[in-house]
Amino acid sequence: MQYAIDARNLSKSFGNKVAVSNITIQVPKGKVYGFLGPNGSGKTTTIRMICGLLTPDSGEGTCLGHNILLHSEQIKSQIGYMTQKFSYWEDLTIKENLEFVAQMFSLENKAQKVKQAIHRLGLEKRCNQLAGSLSGGWKQRLALAACTLHDPKILLLDEPTAGVDPKARREFWDEIHQLATKGLTVLVSTHYMDEAERCHKIIYTAGGQLIIQGSVAEVIANTHLTTWVVKGTDLSLLQTALADHTAISTIAPFGDSLHISGTNPERLKQAITPYLQQSNYHWELINPSMEDAFIHYMNNAQEREI
Ligand SMILES: Nc1ncnc2c1ncn2[C@@H]1O[C@H](COP(=O)(O)OP(=O)(O)O)[C@@H](O)[C@H]1O
Ligand SMILES: [Mg+2]
Repeated sequence: MQYAIDARNLSKSFGNKVAVSNITIQVPKGKVYGFLGPNGSGKTTTIRMICGLLTPDSGEGTCLGHNILLHSEQIKSQIGYMTQKFSYWEDLTIKENLEFVAQMFSLENKAQKVKQAIHRLGLEKRCNQLAGSLSGGWKQRLALAACTLHDPKILLLDEPTAGVDPKARREFWDEIHQLATKGLTVLVSTHYMDEAERCHKIIYTAGGQLIIQGSVAEVIANTHLTTWVVKGTDLSLLQTALADHTAISTIAPFGDSLHISGTNPERLKQAITPYLQQSNYHWELINPSMEDAFIHYMNNAQEREI
């Protein structure tokens, strides 16, 4: 298989701190891969190594067939990188920002490219508004317009929707999928589970290490979890009572319910049996969610660190 992003065994330390340890990421052309993991798990560092902004201590790979260690200039010209922090000019308007970026990339047909980007991202009405006065959602649209202006083949988006409201997030993801349909390859880091579910595959990291990757269904199935959901009164008492039971790997509140998961269905059932018939609880067996799976992986990763 020819991968658009083919980064193998990347590692990077800063002083004594291992930021990324032996991570392999391979993304086929036209796919959207989600990059998940707690803060400090090495997502930004990995993205920066893939686009040639940071040299790995070890590892190798290619982006669009160009060697990431040797040909970072060729890679940079074909990649759109949206940084974690908004990095455009707050005292320029949307249009001026895009014109400036077009200038920096020495694009041909600058005016036309800017006009097209404004139209594609629905920025017409706001194109004369100062970037600094935009809401989070509009800022991210501007950033997406700017990093796609030069028709990149790969998009690296680092937490593009952090702090953006749900409607704007959904629209942002619709746009990402539109771009992927046209052949763009996307690697996007996120904390949001609903966004992870919109990816073809997800890559989950913790403490700089790759914990699991696969489709949402594969990632969930790989936990081998059985999950019970319980609703009712005094759930916090139940949570405390069951917290240390060895058959239970995670107990997590979800709204007005608790999700109780374990890897051995019989032992899990035994653990909750004393409470199954209590009239103040209503129990149901469910398919574990992405969130259940991630809590499970995160706990396992933490145990390994201890
Ligand atoms: N330039 C740097 N100098 C020193 N430490 C860094 C640097 N960049 C990242 N780190 C450290 O590397 C680890 C991974 O960081 P990062 O890649 O930003 O994680 P994430 O994006 O998943 O939050 C963190 O512990 C962070 O403090
Ligand atoms: Mg980061």
